[in-house]
Amino acid sequence: MDRFVIQGGKRLTGEVTASGAKNAVLPIMAATLLTSQECRIGNVPRVADVTTMRRVLEVLGSEVTHTDHELVIRSGSSLSHEAPYDLVRTMRASYYVLGPLLARAHRARVSLPGGCAIGARPIDLHLRGMGELGADVAVEHGYVVASCGRLQGNRMSLLGPVGSSVGATINVMMAATLAEGTTVIEGAALEPEVSDVASFLRAMGAAIEGDGTPFITIHGVEELHGAEHETIPDRIETGTLAAAAAITGGEISIAKCRPDDLQAVLSVLRKAGVSIEVGDDHLAVWAASGLRSVDVTVAPYPGFPTDMQAQITALMSITPGTSIITETIFENRFLHVSELLRLGAEIKIEGSSAIVRGVERLSGAYVMASDLRASAALVLAGLVASGETVVRRVYHLDRGYERFDEKLAGLGARIRREEE
Ligand code: EPZ
Repeated sequence: MDRFVIQGGKRLTGEVTASGAKNAVLPIMAATLLTSQECRIGNVPRVADVTTMRRVLEVLGSEVTHTDHELVIRSGSSLSHEAPYDLVRTMRASYYVLGPLLARAHRARVSLPGGCAIGARPIDLHLRGMGELGADVAVEHGYVVASCGRLQGNRMSLLGPVGSSVGATINVMMAATLAEGTTVIEGAALEPEVSDVASFLRAMGAAIEGDGTPFITIHGVEELHGAEHETIPDRIETGTLAAAAAITGGEISIAKCRPDDLQAVLSVLRKAGVSIEVGDDHLAVWAASGLRSVDVTVAPYPGFPTDMQAQITALMSITPGTSIITETIFENRFLHVSELLRLGAEIKIEGSSAIVRGVERLSGAYVMASDLRASAALVLAGLVASGETVVRRVYHLDRGYERFDEKLAGLGARIRREEE
């Protein structure tokens, strides 16, 4: 198991390049199951979750080549239909194979992912969506077992108890591409990753309209073909790097990103006193003078992303004043707070809010990463804490951030990776 050792107190300066979006590329990889022809995907981040999805596809019978930042995938004619527990339990996004398998192979046996550190994370909306498309869906012995003839287009709402679901929208959209007739998803998620998957599916020959709005229409086609696609930049990685610049009082530019996808995050950072200059595909971020506290409530896109909640909490923990950070999407996404307390932060949890009273300084300590974004928050805090911070279990971070330690070191951070 690796850990990061960080000597805090160094301002970040310089330029860094954003990687491709993990949460777009994972479903895009699953979507390649919809055709027997070769697909090429570019701007693929080298992160552990991509490796896990590769293994899932290989277990299903796909041939996958991963060179540098490109994947070439061919899911020939003899596909297995079972995604086993051992793989799915390590990465929930494995359930993205459900829709494509049903659409193409007309059956699927996919392990239930189970809960995870940030909450219960049910998949009822995915299952309901597949049922609405005409599949028989049952849960047996910890597996979703589903079968169908050709899927049938339908009109359905995919709104859950807290609003739209990114995963269910994408899963149903993928399945509906090969259905007979037209599918309309109401209450569709608006996240840029949904549109990126839709673009890939269109390149494969799918007829999809309305992605990026709450109503997505998919006209089913007989078959899809191979395609090439460039994955969008990772907006959460970009936001995390911007927060890293802010927390260290630094001055960085981020190349090859999409500032348009980050407006809510940029607006919060600006309110907090961070200066930001926006280009088409790059950002300049500097935080020379005093920061001020802001209240943040997370919301589905285009609101402030839950995937940036931990990082903004870390930033507010050393910002003068009191801020209230409210989580609305996942019930248990404050695991970073107890670790931030170990660094000297003053944070109280009240219901679904963290009340953060900014302190003058954090002081380095041993902390433990609990999930992907919590790990990022602890690294940000370590960058500004006095002395040495050791972030343990960074395998969580490696799931979704490409060479995060190296990118930060390139900006001047004193951070090194070592084996425990
Ligand atoms: C995606 O998860 C992301 N994961 C998450 O990123 C992200 O936090 C989340 O969207 C919200 O933006 C991937 O893209 C692989 P949801 P997903 O379905 O699709 C409830 C990260 O750090 N719900 O939009 O699983 C659910 O419990 C990760 O990169 C149901 O009730 O999220 C939640 O409260 C973590 N039933 C809400 O909907 C369902 O069937 C939104 O979840 C599905 C979801």
